[in-house]
Amino acid sequence: MVELPLATLEDVLQDAAAGGYAVGAFNANNLEYVQAIVAAAEDERAPVVVQASQGAIRHAGLEYIARIVRLAAERADVPVVLHLDHGRDLTLLKRCLGVGFTSVMFDGSHLPLEENIRLTAEVVRWARRVGISVEGELGQVPRSSYTSLNELAGLLTDPDEAARFVTETGVNALAVSVGSVHQMTRQQAVLDVRRVRAIREATGVPLVLHGSSGVTDESLQAVIREGIRKVNFATALNQAFRRGLEETLAASAEPDPRPALSRARELVREVVRDKIRLLGAAGRA
Ligand code: G3H
Ligand code: ZN
Repeated sequence: MVELPLATLEDVLQDAAAGGYAVGAFNANNLEYVQAIVAAAEDERAPVVVQASQGAIRHAGLEYIARIVRLAAERADVPVVLHLDHGRDLTLLKRCLGVGFTSVMFDGSHLPLEENIRLTAEVVRWARRVGISVEGELGQVPRSSYTSLNELAGLLTDPDEAARFVTETGVNALAVSVGSVHQMTRQQAVLDVRRVRAIREATGVPLVLHGSSGVTDESLQAVIREGIRKVNFATALNQAFRRGLEETLAASAEPDPRPALSRARELVREVVRDKIRLLGAAGRA
């Protein structure tokens, strides 16, 4: 079973559903991101999800990420979940179950429905045995320059399919496509709030929003009122980290990288604090 001090996704999302707020899920790429995310959660007294993508795991190393997050969680007095983001490689996903992740996403959104259901259900069976939560995805949140709901029409999550997906897989949380797009660098996306409500009514599970850096604050708050309980941010953190590095490196030619890394960490912490407040998660831990 899952060892303390890490919380499972199921634990924190149950509380979020009862309290009508959403938990922030923030992508970490290195030590400074992990420190910034957990420090911001403590600043705001909020539960938090630290998530690693397959790319971040390739960059930092699976066990390094797992141990760094675990250490941060041990020292924190707020619930911290360690989550695999967009897991597609089933071998890697199984390794995550063995090194301390308390939640995994299996992303079968690119697969035909039957195949997505079959593989997601299999991941749920593995994860259940060790007490770990699973997030599935239905519909597609693209990585591109889509900006309007019309362009996204064919990719959005269908509520009836979502009901079937949740019943047949047993996932703890469902990522949905409702108008957001990954890697937007400005907050311009407006979401299909009625679709979120319909999916929530059809499934009853906590819903997850991806591509949240590009969503307007108003839209984020509107979908949280309708059942979004986990909100993923990566690009907004990367922008802050990069700005911290660039500004510091431009201001001085000194070889020591620590001032730039410290500034980058500070700016990521500020972004995470802002997002936590926006989601209504501050003061909930
Ligand atoms: O899975 C990660 C998120 O969906 C992040 O999306 O980079 O657009 O914030 P974002
Ligand atoms: Zn995503």
